[in-house]
Amino acid sequence: LKRLTVPVIQRRKFEGKTEEPLVMLTAYTARTAQLLDAHCDMLLVGDSLGQVIYGLPSTLPVTLDMMCNHGAAVVRGSYHSLVIVDMPFGSYEKSPEQAFESASRIMAETGCAAVKLEGGQSMASTISFLSQRGIPVMAHIGLTPQAVNALGGYAARGRSQEEHEKILADAKAVADAGAFAMVAEGVLEPIAIAVTKSVDVPVIGIGASAQCDGQVLVTEDMLGMFERTARFVKRYYNISENIEQAVASYAEEVRSRSFPGPEQLYQPKK
Ligand code: KIV
Ligand code: NA
Repeated sequence: LKRLTVPVIQRRKFEGKTEEPLVMLTAYTARTAQLLDAHCDMLLVGDSLGQVIYGLPSTLPVTLDMMCNHGAAVVRGSYHSLVIVDMPFGSYEKSPEQAFESASRIMAETGCAAVKLEGGQSMASTISFLSQRGIPVMAHIGLTPQAVNALGGYAARGRSQEEHEKILADAKAVADAGAFAMVAEGVLEPIAIAVTKSVDVPVIGIGASAQCDGQVLVTEDMLGMFERTARFVKRYYNISENIEQAVASYAEEVRSRSFPGPEQLYQPKK
């Protein structure tokens, strides 16, 4: 398996259609990347690591240092999937130049092939600045978690005519600006379908539509790591229950002195 490239991913959407949907999951660590790599087309080092790994209340406090450290780990742990690293809040919004500085640092320190940033029309000039300078950009439209304070929460987007039109305009703007793909998160299904039909770059859905060109989920969410998740999460496993059972067994064996047993111990040679 050779590592997939940005042009290969982009060409998977041909004449407005993606024959086989693109598979994307988040990864923040080398071992997780190793486990996911062969099954995915893209691994996203999402700024969702703020909540998932660091216990932060939102993605807003996530730093460039965090993204660089986890991005490098994921690149080291994979050799097939295209690795995309999220640009954290505050590292790109001020100007195209600021975005270039942050993105080039992420790419140099991690070895990833692309960055992702949130925003539509407002980020179009930044997306074109980066794309023209050798930095492939994945856009992220619809429910953009870094804008939680402006949006007033994490509710689905597109319920008003105004929002509906804005999502379509954002999709067109980022595609025209040169984004090689985009995530559409938390939008009403008919809007997700319209977005997917309206642009010729892949649209990766999350809480969007099975008719998107691909899907993404936060790996810990789909593994059942958390009690409460968004409607759009499907749990394929119950990892928290399994961890709790394992830890309870360990604790019980330590307390009863049955761990460590003979197989785990070193004895002097006879
Ligand atoms: O940070 C993240 O995990 C994301 C995906 C949910 C698209 O941006
Ligand atoms: Na993100």
